[in-house]
Amino acid sequence: MNTRELQEEIKRIKKEKDMLILAHAYQSQDILEVADYMGDSYGLSVQAAKTKHQNVVMCGVRFMAETVKILSPNKHVYLANRYTGCPMAQQMTKEDVLMLKEKYPDYAVVAYINTTSELKTVVDMVVTSSSAVRILKKMPQKDILFIPDPNLGSWVANQLPEKNIKTFQGGCPTHWRISKKDVEKARKEHPEAEILVHPECKPEVTELADYAGSTTGIMKYAKESDKKEFVIGTENSIVQHLQFDCPDKKFYCLSVECVCHNMRQTTLVDVYNTITGKEQEEIILDDEILQGAKTAIDRMVKAGK
Ligand code: 13P
Ligand code: SF4
Repeated sequence: MNTRELQEEIKRIKKEKDMLILAHAYQSQDILEVADYMGDSYGLSVQAAKTKHQNVVMCGVRFMAETVKILSPNKHVYLANRYTGCPMAQQMTKEDVLMLKEKYPDYAVVAYINTTSELKTVVDMVVTSSSAVRILKKMPQKDILFIPDPNLGSWVANQLPEKNIKTFQGGCPTHWRISKKDVEKARKEHPEAEILVHPECKPEVTELADYAGSTTGIMKYAKESDKKEFVIGTENSIVQHLQFDCPDKKFYCLSVECVCHNMRQTTLVDVYNTITGKEQEEIILDDEILQGAKTAIDRMVKAGK
C-alpha cells in the first residue's frame, strides 16, 4: 500500500471501529492528515475530556496518552508507538515532589503536563505551555513551586510579577539545544523575519524573540501575521507544517538541532497497526493513580477555560 492508500484505509477503519485519532502538532504531515484533531497539549486534553468515541489513539508521547486515559477512564486509549516517551517527564518522581513539599510546606505545587501520572497524584495543579500563565494567575496562592521545566517556569514568572515562583533543574533536551547565538545569527540572515519560539527554550532565547507560545500558539501567530518570513524556535516539524499551510510565506528553523526523536518515532504504519489491532499499546493505569492524577488534571481543564 502506498501512503494515500494507507491513509484511506485508516480513515475507513477508524469510522467502522468508533476510533478517535488525536495527534500532537509535532507529528508528521501524513499522520496529521488522518487525525480527527491536531493540537498542543492543552488542546489535546480538552478533546480527550469531551470525546464520545469509545476508542482513542494518541499520536504523541506517553504522558499525552496517559492524560487521555485519566480524563476518559472508561475508554480504550492507545499510544500509537509504545516507545515514545518524553525525557522531561522522567526528570522528577513522586518522591522528589514529596521531599519538596516537606521543605516548602507553604508553597502550592504546579506541575507541567510533561510529567508522569504518578507524580501528578501529589501536585495541586497541572498546566501546559498554553495555559500556564492563565491558570497561575487565577490560583489564589502567591508562593508556587513550578516543576520540572525551569525555562517555562521563568517565562511564566516574568509575566506574573505578583507571584513568587520557584523553579528547579530540568527541562526539555530538545529546546535546550537552541541558544542566544542562534537568535543573533537568524536576525542577521533573515532581517525581515519574526522569530517565534516555544517557552521551553532558555530565557536567553525567549527574551530575544518576537513571540513565545505553545506549538499551536506559534502556528496561529504565523498564520495570522501580515509578515512574510518567520524563524521558528521549536521542534522543526512545525516549520514543515507551516510551510505546507502557508505556501506564500517563508519559514526557517532557528536551529537544525531542534528535533525531538521521541515525537518523530511514530509512523503512519504505527497508526494503521494500532487501529487494526495488529500491534497495540493500550494505556492501563492503576486505579489509585487514575483517581489521584484526575483531580489535578480536571482542575487544569476547568481553570484553563
Ligand atoms: P505544547 O504543544 O503544549 O506547546 O507542548 C510542546 C511539547 O514539547 C510537547 O511535548
Ligand atoms: Fe519532551 Fe521536549 Fe520532546 Fe516535547 S519536545 S516530547 S518536552 S523532549
